[in-house]
Amino acid sequence: MAKEVIYLDYASASPMDPQVLAAMQPYFADTFYNPSAPYLAAKAVKADIEKARETVAHWFGARPSNIVFTSGGTEANNLAIVGIAGKHRGAHIISTAIEHESILKPLAYLKQLGWKYTLVAPKPDGIVDPTAIAKAITHRTVLVSVMYANNEIGTVQPLKEITAAVAAVRKQRQKTGNLLPLYVHTDACQAAAYLDLHVARLGVDLMTINGGKIYGPKQSGVLYINSHVDIGPVIFGGGQERGLRSGTENVGGIIGLATALDLVQNRRQAERTRLTELQDIFIKELADKLPVATINGSLHRRLPNNLHITIPGTDNERLLFALDSAGIQCAAGSACSASKEEASHVLRALGMNDYEARASLRFSMGRGTTEKDIRYTASTLAKIVA
Ligand SMILES: Cc1ncc(COP(=O)(O)O)c(C=O)c1O
Repeated sequence: MAKEVIYLDYASASPMDPQVLAAMQPYFADTFYNPSAPYLAAKAVKADIEKARETVAHWFGARPSNIVFTSGGTEANNLAIVGIAGKHRGAHIISTAIEHESILKPLAYLKQLGWKYTLVAPKPDGIVDPTAIAKAITHRTVLVSVMYANNEIGTVQPLKEITAAVAAVRKQRQKTGNLLPLYVHTDACQAAAYLDLHVARLGVDLMTINGGKIYGPKQSGVLYINSHVDIGPVIFGGGQERGLRSGTENVGGIIGLATALDLVQNRRQAERTRLTELQDIFIKELADKLPVATINGSLHRRLPNNLHITIPGTDNERLLFALDSAGIQCAAGSACSASKEEASHVLRALGMNDYEARASLRFSMGRGTTEKDIRYTASTLAKIVA
């Protein structure tokens, strides 16, 4: 049997909910059919996909036809950025300096092909100022993409204020006769288990979520696209998903994602309360046992499951190894930046130097996390650092 571990890396991957696994299972063997096939059994699978689409649409407050299933958060983000850019040649896109690589890399790629983009820096507390976003809008801006919650430092952006600021500029711009659309996209991958996903309340035109962070399957995702958005595909082929994402549907993944979303959104308030209490205990324990540690990112606008700290003078590679040996699994940043040579671009955007960034750790809690785990983690970390 595997040794007992304390898993504090839920922002990187969450274990699949048994109910999700059970809901997915039939589609791999018993009802394996291609949903586009003409016989009744295949049509039933197609109907199950449509039911899953309705479930996702319900939580987004959207129409089912606005839901596009993808292979994950990365693909949904690429589709939002590249799909809109493809329909608006040479236009300008705004995003932030703390986005996931699946936003930043497509932007860098588009730049090579002639598009322009601006990355707005957050304030030192990791919050993006809505006024700074509005100020960055030019007469050529077609898209603003701001993540809902950050995957490293857990900060939650004032999305409603940002979309309101963009709407005000959009209105002004229209008055000048400029008919270029101005859309807002949000990457809600880290937010989906804890925050309101109602697209009209948030004021967004496009939104990404993925299954792997909400106790659903990896390689499953959604891009919500409002009907008025002028967007093209990035994957071409047989025309599935309204032609925006060709390829035989990952039926198990789609069913799993919808089931997982339903479960996390139904439990959202209770889990938020529970994790906020654990977060408070974690903060108090660290203040008591390891007072040199500082917390990164706003404490007020923050996911309930995230604690990101810097312990000056330490090296996170060494700390991660020592924590792992003590049975505690956590991360240095996002899963993809943890093993890279460069320091995290998110921490650099907060104004940290490389040494401070490399002295930082991310703890992300989840369903299995208990108060005992948190107290043990804080005291173990204090002993390792001492
Ligand atoms: C904020 C954010 N966006 C996008 C992604 C990428 O999602 P996926 O791994 O499903 O492609 C992740 C996951 O690492 C994430 O945390």
